[in-house]
Amino acid sequence: MEKIKIKNYPMVSPAPTVLVGADVKGKPNYATVGAFGVVCLEPVFYISLKSTHYTTMGVKETGYFTINIPSADMVQITDYCGVVSGKTTDKSIMFTSFYDELEKAPMISECPLNFLCKVTQSVPICGFEVFFGEIVSTYLNKQCLTDDKPDPLKINPMIMMGTSYYDLGQAVGNVFKEGMEYKKLQNK
Ligand SMILES: Cc1cc2nc3c(=O)[nH]c(=O)nc-3n(C[C@H](O)[C@H](O)[C@H](O)COP(=O)(O)O)c2cc1C
Repeated sequence: MEKIKIKNYPMVSPAPTVLVGADVKGKPNYATVGAFGVVCLEPVFYISLKSTHYTTMGVKETGYFTINIPSADMVQITDYCGVVSGKTTDKSIMFTSFYDELEKAPMISECPLNFLCKVTQSVPICGFEVFFGEIVSTYLNKQCLTDDKPDPLKINPMIMMGTSYYDLGQAVGNVFKEGMEYKKLQNK
């Protein structure tokens, strides 16, 4: 297969699209974030937030943030949270916010999956702050369960790549099973 070298630009790689929440000056604020992910097998996430974002101020102030997974039908409101800042627009009124008993950071009722994270480490990089957060509680819409497990197709998260958002599409295989099938074929 012929390969061509293209521009080194991170947005050509697929990324989840999440809404990061934090209380800023005692009020909920939300920012759209693509730089989010899993770092190890322990319940730890990372997010990377521009140091000047209003949300960043809240995460630093409180030591907590939330990850809210919007479903693909929330594409417009999700994008909107990524084009306006809490510095000039009150984003607390855009969603129904809820808190767990710790009352540390706001979560979005309209998003099917929510995580509350406590900051354990932060690393500054190129004008951004990478926060590592231990997951302290997880909430899922009950109707997104199938056989008592979170169902990705019911949650229907959004992936961005290049300049577009995509929904999850269809499952193409099973984790840890496809590899075993491949191994069987190799050993024939
Ligand atoms: C799809 C998308 C992904 C984004 N990803 C990030 C990101 O990973 N990190 C970041 O700091 N800003 C990211 N942004 C930009 C912020 O969401 C945006 O600047 C927002 O207005 C910040 O809001 P705040 O000032 O209220 O915190 C993204 C925006 C969009 C639309």
